[in-house]
Amino acid sequence: MKKLFIVANWKSNKDSIQINNWIEGFKNTNKEVIICPSFVHLPILKSYISNHKSEIKLGAQDISPYDAGAYTGEVNARQIKEFADYVIIGHSERRENFNETDELIIKKIDMATKHELMPILCVSDINQVQNSKVKIQNYNSKLIIAYEPLFAIGTGSPDTPENADKVALDIKSELNGVSVLYGGSVTANNVKSFTQMSNIDGVLVGGASLDANEFSEIIKNS
Ligand code: PGA
Repeated sequence: MKKLFIVANWKSNKDSIQINNWIEGFKNTNKEVIICPSFVHLPILKSYISNHKSEIKLGAQDISPYDAGAYTGEVNARQIKEFADYVIIGHSERRENFNETDELIIKKIDMATKHELMPILCVSDINQVQNSKVKIQNYNSKLIIAYEPLFAIGTGSPDTPENADKVALDIKSELNGVSVLYGGSVTANNVKSFTQMSNIDGVLVGGASLDANEFSEIIKNS
């Protein structure tokens, strides 16, 4: 059976009380579940994981393109590595609202890989993979790609599983050996239609991951 990744992207949501409530409502699981909270909440989740001997993994939602140094406001890969094993890079909200370019994104992937964080590179179409292919193809086995079409993010209108599977296959033929996730309006009702496709190795969930019950259902149904 393929290894499934179920990733929660909490975006800029939740305070520490809401995180405690979420933790109380969440049912433990043996799938590769990765929670990506805001940076400031990584320590709370890390202590929950060690206190409960949970198998949940942590990821950051972004990373500095630089190592430690004079870069006010940035959180670098070594700092993230103290808490997390994964990092989301190049989410469309960062490409759009923070003008992230393919060049910057490649620097972030380099930094993550150097410090043994697994990058979850978000792309909205195959062109974004092709633009970075030459630079990232050496990382294939140390890289997860999340295909997240813009029309599906936060809209309640996911891509069709058939098209998502086709894009996942196209990505895999560009980058041999990568795992490919689907993201965009994934819910407990539709998750299986994606995870059962042969080229899709998991899901990246935004809105529906904020509620512990809904997220537990997503994991159960995946
Ligand atoms: P959504 O977001 O599940 O709320 O559509 C997905 C994402 O942006 O990663």
